Amino acid sequence: MRTPLVAGNWKMHGSRASNRALLDAVLAGIETLAGIECAVCVPYPYLGEVAGRLAKTRLAWGAQNLSEHLQGAFTGEVSAPMLAEFGCRYVLVGHSERRQLYGETDAVVAAKFAAVLAHGMTPVLCLGETLEERDAGRTEQVVGRQLAAVLGLNEKNAFKKAVVAYEPVWAIGTGRTASPEQAQAVHAFLRSGVFPETRIIYGGSVKPGNAATIFAMPDVDGGLIGGASLVAGDFTAIARAAQRKG
Ligand code: PGA
Repeated sequence: MRTPLVAGNWKMHGSRASNRALLDAVLAGIETLAGIECAVCVPYPYLGEVAGRLAKTRLAWGAQNLSEHLQGAFTGEVSAPMLAEFGCRYVLVGHSERRQLYGETDAVVAAKFAAVLAHGMTPVLCLGETLEERDAGRTEQVVGRQLAAVLGLNEKNAFKKAVVAYEPVWAIGTGRTASPEQAQAVHAFLRSGVFPETRIIYGGSVKPGNAATIFAMPDVDGGLIGGASLVAGDFTAIARAAQRKG
């Protein structure tokens, strides 16, 4: 049995005051939910404060990125040991915005994944195809390549703990979601490369109105939520949709 995971990706949004209000409302909204895991991945400067606020609550927290290096002359970077020291649980690796805007290659993503695992945290490996790649019928080839790069540097057993997030690039922040069947097809393909117990979550314009039908698919184990994670009522409604699955 895979425990559904609903993780918020705040991206570069928030302020100390708005974070407090958002977390309070989310905590109130998920208080009575059982059988699922919820998490928020917040910008670095807020990690310490958020860790304090969420200690002993049922909302876990994570980071959105990290360096593949452990320490050294890497100005502006944050390492796995630093995140681990704050009690970080999840770290997103290979989000398409990192791949597209900051030139992260499959090899860099694989190294980041290894760094997260080596420090006792759970990597959330993001992968997905562009619209052009989908239209060319290359979806499986692309996500297969992205997964293979990580498997090349890491033991397959790593995926007993790691989470995979299928996020078609064309669905992120566009209001356009993969249909439940499209998501299921890619998740089933990815599952064949990992384990029956690996959680594979879907991301890309998940909203309260579409979450339940996507989460109803047998290989969709929850969601990675961008825009809707900034609205407490939307995030908690999506978490409720995942609970019905659990
Ligand atoms: P979205 O973002 O829900 O706003 O599409 C998802 C993500 O980028 O993780």
